[in-house]
Amino acid sequence: MRKRILGAAAAVALAAVMAACGGSDVPEDATGQEIYVQLCARCHGSDLRGGTGVALVGEGAESIDKPESYLVQSIYAGIGRMPAFRRTLSDDQILRVAQYIMRQQGR
Ligand code: HEC
Repeated sequence: MRKRILGAAAAVALAAVMAACGGSDVPEDATGQEIYVQLCARCHGSDLRGGTGVALVGEGAESIDKPESYLVQSIYAGIGRMPAFRRTLSDDQILRVAQYIMRQQGR
């Protein structure tokens, strides 16, 4: 019993260390929308209509005509003045936020 408690404590400590180096505060199972709000809205606007970053929906949103792979690649590696998110987000999280944007684009 005592051993199990120690094991659990070690797992918690390890998780804390892993969270501290690299990774983001975004939980691994966060929805695309949650990821967007935390990491993207400050540049692309909470309504996705742009700000510092380009519009992702509505007028002037060029990515509407681009394939999913274009969105994923832009987020993964960065594009123009936008930073890369490959160190901040897992591949799954990148896919989820790309799909969130596509849903907001009505596709
Ligand atoms: C620091 C500001 C900033 C943040 C944070 C940011 N972006 Fe961007 N994003 C930009 C800018 C600026 C561009 C336009 C890049 C260019 O073409 O020069 C862009 C472009 C894009 C594009 C391509 C759009 C197009 O029309 O080609 C996508 C998709 C995108 N961002 C998604 C995201 C997602 C998802 C996040 C959050 C994980 C995010 N961005 C966070 C600034 C930002």
